[in-house]
Order: sequence, then C-alpha cells, then structure tokens
Amino acid sequence: MKIRVDLSHSLKDASYDILIDSNIAIGEILKSAGIRKRVCVITCKTVNDLYGNSISDALKSAGIEPFFILLPDGESAKSIKYLSYVYDELIKNRFERSDYIIAFGGGVIGDLAGYASASYLRGVNFIQIPTTLLSDVDSSVGGKTGIDHPSGKNLIGAFYQPKIVIIDVDFLNSLDNRELINGFAEVIKYGAVLDRDLFLYLENNLDRIMSKDKQSLMHIIERSCLIKADIVNKDERESGVRSVLNFGHSLGHAIETLYNYKTIKHGEAISIGMVFASKLSKEMNLCSSETVNRLEMLIKNSGLPTEIPKFSPEEYVNAMKLDKKVEDESIKFVLVNDIGNFKFEKLDFAFIRKFLENII
Ligand code: NAD
Ligand code: GLY
Repeated sequence: MKIRVDLSHSLKDASYDILIDSNIAIGEILKSAGIRKRVCVITCKTVNDLYGNSISDALKSAGIEPFFILLPDGESAKSIKYLSYVYDELIKNRFERSDYIIAFGGGVIGDLAGYASASYLRGVNFIQIPTTLLSDVDSSVGGKTGIDHPSGKNLIGAFYQPKIVIIDVDFLNSLDNRELINGFAEVIKYGAVLDRDLFLYLENNLDRIMSKDKQSLMHIIERSCLIKADIVNKDERESGVRSVLNFGHSLGHAIETLYNYKTIKHGEAISIGMVFASKLSKEMNLCSSETVNRLEMLIKNSGLPTEIPKFSPEEYVNAMKLDKKVEDESIKFVLVNDIGNFKFEKLDFAFIRKFLENII
C-alpha cells in the first residue's frame, strides 16, 4: 500500500509517500526514487547485527554506496552525546548536502537521525526505514525529530519531513514481545481517540496481532499511517488538532522523565498515561465507566501496564510542567469522549495534582 503525506499546501516540495508491504526491494525503490549517490545509514547495534549486511547488499546492488554510523540500542542514544558523534562521523566522511541519511531502526534512531538531518549543513535529505512497530505506526511519519534533555523528553528538536518512508513488516519478525506491545500502545492510542472501528478491530483480533499474523499487522500499520498522515496533513506543526496524538503523553512523558528514560519504554509509559487520561475524562463527565474499562482491558490484555508508578503527585506535576504543551499554570490535555472521540481541555496543575492524590 502507498499512502501520501500531502504537505503541498503548507510546505512546497515536502510531500512524501509511505510504502507499506513485505519483502520490499529497498535498493530498487531508492534507485527509482532517484537516489544514485552515497547514503549514510544510521542504525543501532541490534538492527545492524540482524539486517546490516542485507541492507548494505541491497543498496550496493542498486548502485548506491552506503556508509554506516552505529549507535547503541535504546533511549540513551537520543542524547546530545550521540548527536555530536553523528555530526563528527558525517564531517569525517565528508558528507554533502545532496547525500542522503537513512534512519534504519526504531523511533530512537528515527528521531535522532531526523534531527541530525535537519541540522547538519542546515538540512540534508532524509529517509525513514523503520524496524519496530512503534516506528512503523507513529514515529517514522510526520516529521517530529529530536533528542532528549536530562530534564525532559524531546526538548530539543525540529519538524523535518523525510523524503520517503519505507515500512517492511518483515523486520517485525525479529522484534521481541515487549517491543511489539510497546508499539501496539500507539495503535491503541489511534483507536481510542480517533477511530472506533480500529479499536474494535484491536479488541477482536488481539491474539492474531500478538502472534504477529502478517495480515493483521499490515492492517493496523496501514490504518495507523492513514490516520497519522491525515492529522499531519491538517496540522503539520501541531498548532491544533495534531495534539490529539499526544493522548496519554502528558503523564507518560512525566513517567519517562522520572525514570530517567530507563526501565520503562515509551509505549508502556503512555499506556499508563492513557488510562489516567480516561479516568480524568470520566471524572469530568466526558466519558462513561464503560469507556474507561474497555481501554484499560485492552491495554491490560495486550500485556501493557496500567498502574501509575509510585512517584509523588508533586514529582509528577513538576515533570509535567516541562511539557511543551504547558502555558502558565495549565496544560492542554487530550481527553477521551466515547471510544474514537476526543476533547481538548486546559487543565490547571492544581486540579491534576489533586486528582493524582486521589488515585495514586
Ligand atoms: P527503539 O528505537 O529504542 O527500539 C527498541 C529496541 O528494539 C531497541 O533495542 C532496538 O535495537 C530494537 N530493535 C529495533 N528494530 C528491531 C528489530 N526489527 N528486531 C529486533 N530488535 C529491534 O524504540 P522505539 O519504541 O522504536 O521508539 C521509541 C522512541 O520513539 C522514543 O524515543 C519516543 O519518544 C519516540 N517517538 C517518536 C515519535 C515521533 O513522532 N517522532 C512518536 C512516538 C515515539
Ligand atoms: N507522536 C505524536 C506526533 O507525531 O505528533
């Protein structure tokens, strides 16, 4: 399937295709997209061990000469230290503006490589080849790039769109269960606040998805990319509706920050955040207990966490205050109506703190 992210109304030449399939001839696709020169493949250790040789061969046989920049696995790579290392390597290899950077890995690699692409030589060409479910359904699409700061997640970054996104579901064969459900959390997010039919599909096909049935995976990836492309088309720079994609993220990012981006994964943190947001929605009479229960059950049944870790309400509120959606003493919160519908509310930190005190 091919999905078009059409940004021609806001940014000339910034539109691009998302290709979703299995067994994709990556070298040939890139060659037919006009890439004939050198590319820099930024990847992490695990992905390189699994697929480094095969992607290198695919590129070479299409006449493209790759060099690799290897980063460690995990969130710690999304830091100023490794960004600086990437710049050093690009300079050392005399990387030019007309060359291409390929992000080959999960969301960490995509975010870091994207930001390196946005900033090196004031912007070089960038391609996303995601390899985790999370990066297939969310981070590879939409152009949010960046790194973490010790005091907050994604605090340094840029909107910078890729030239093409190539999603080959076969990469998911080697993904372990924890990483699979980590990405599944973002799919639940789309269903919960934007697509009731998708949510029903997830409830009814959970076993097939968890056993990595290819058709089910293709279906949820396609639906997620269609939803994300539609939102990004409407609001590339998150001045309005794109914030809906932050459902579960206000508390989720605070949890990740309080754990120093260790121990807990992004999808796990936002799962807890989604359950929290639904309880907050119920408290504000926006949704029924049934909505809260269905969301909590789907999250639990897929193996994701729902319990808020034992930090104090004060710690949560302080961490949330670093969120990009904060203005004065309030935060723009994404709340759920019925399944598949959302509402934005500006909530005071005093109110959030009181609610946290009641439920922790
Ligand atoms: P990740 O990139 O750390 O990948 C998770 C782990 O899976 C890593 O250890 C990696 O080595 C391994 N891995 C990757 N592909 C594999 C494969 N095919 N087989 C086996 N192992 C594989 O984590 P992630 O969950 O993909 O991404 C999380 C990051 O994405 C967070 O930093 C989050 O903030 C960011 N994110 C960004 C956006 C965005 O719009 N830019 C959206 C959502 C999340
Ligand atoms: N992951 C949220 C967004 O891309 O806006």
